[in-house]
Amino acid sequence: MKGLILSGGKGTRLRPITYTSAKQLVPVANKPILFYGIEAMRDAGIREIGIVVGDTGDEIRSAVGQGDRWGVSIDYIQQSAPLGLAHAVLESEEFLRGTPFVMYLGDNLIQGGIRNLTEEFQRSRPDSMILLTPVQDPTQFGVAELSGERVVRLEEKPARPRSNLALVGVYMFNDSIFEAARAISPSARGELEITDAIQWLIDRGLRVDSHIVQGWWKDTGKLEDMLEANRLILDLLDTRIDGKVDEASKVDFKVVIEEGAEVVESTIRGPAIIGRGTRLEHSYIGPFTSIGDNCRVKNSEIEHSIVLENSSILDIAHRIEDSLIGRNVELSRSPLRPVAYRFMLGDNSKVGIL
Ligand code: TTP
Repeated sequence: MKGLILSGGKGTRLRPITYTSAKQLVPVANKPILFYGIEAMRDAGIREIGIVVGDTGDEIRSAVGQGDRWGVSIDYIQQSAPLGLAHAVLESEEFLRGTPFVMYLGDNLIQGGIRNLTEEFQRSRPDSMILLTPVQDPTQFGVAELSGERVVRLEEKPARPRSNLALVGVYMFNDSIFEAARAISPSARGELEITDAIQWLIDRGLRVDSHIVQGWWKDTGKLEDMLEANRLILDLLDTRIDGKVDEASKVDFKVVIEEGAEVVESTIRGPAIIGRGTRLEHSYIGPFTSIGDNCRVKNSEIEHSIVLENSSILDIAHRIEDSLIGRNVELSRSPLRPVAYRFMLGDNSKVGIL
């Protein structure tokens, strides 16, 4: 079985971060989201992985490489434009044809990996297998209607859902999906939808099975979901302190402090992770916070947030919460007169001040 990870797309819901960087490389607990997908495939015994990339292809290639670090071989497939998940499958046909494959959305996280699923797919050999999970508000998702384990209908964001079972971003297919993707037309949003391609399989009498996911699953395409994914992964950490913590500091509960990090007169209440070369001084880092490598936090408090590498947060009077702070960002108090807020913000930035 081969693997296909989709890492192109537009990422409009995560602007401005996605103006300069791939959303699949945003770190969750200081590891790029995409790496969790590659690890899930490796753990399922998949050795040949194709990664579909778009405009951010160069950044993804240099972060991931050829796969040696995971013991897998990685091919890159350049999608000509972000025209939908089924379009990405079609553009990967040359790499995939002739072997059943599992497709994984590069910004998704799934607890417990995919090994059971790929094994079940290979044992029962349906034409496709999709993963489902019960959700509170099915009108926001692709929703499946089942008869036993067979999928009889899929609907994208239905006004009147026929079930509460939403599609999770992991799918398994054989070669029949290429004909399906060629047969369908673009949706109202101009994309070749994978749900339409799967519905085409169902309409032709091909076998589409379902598997209900037991653990959590997270699509990190939006800020709140990214923070929740960070929370879920940080909760799995065991304490490991490789950096320096002075006697005046207090470190409680599941905290990772990487080598070269320094904690001075600060309190860290985990789960939290502090990256290599980062310095915290007279600060408070609260639960569910990931601070990347080579950051500086001084006289500030931050909780339930993700801070990417090389950023500094200095002398901020009020606690920062629920935030995603990009690379090389400087947040500090201005000594200049007149006293005023001074910003340099990219398009689509969001700032909430007290
Ligand atoms: P989405 O999050 O559904 O789409 P998007 O990345 O364009 O984001 P937004 O809706 O905020 O504009 O995509 C799911 C995953 O699939 C994600 O990792 C990007 C990837 N993808 C492709 O590789 N090619 C595509 O044509 C599309 C639409 C998505």
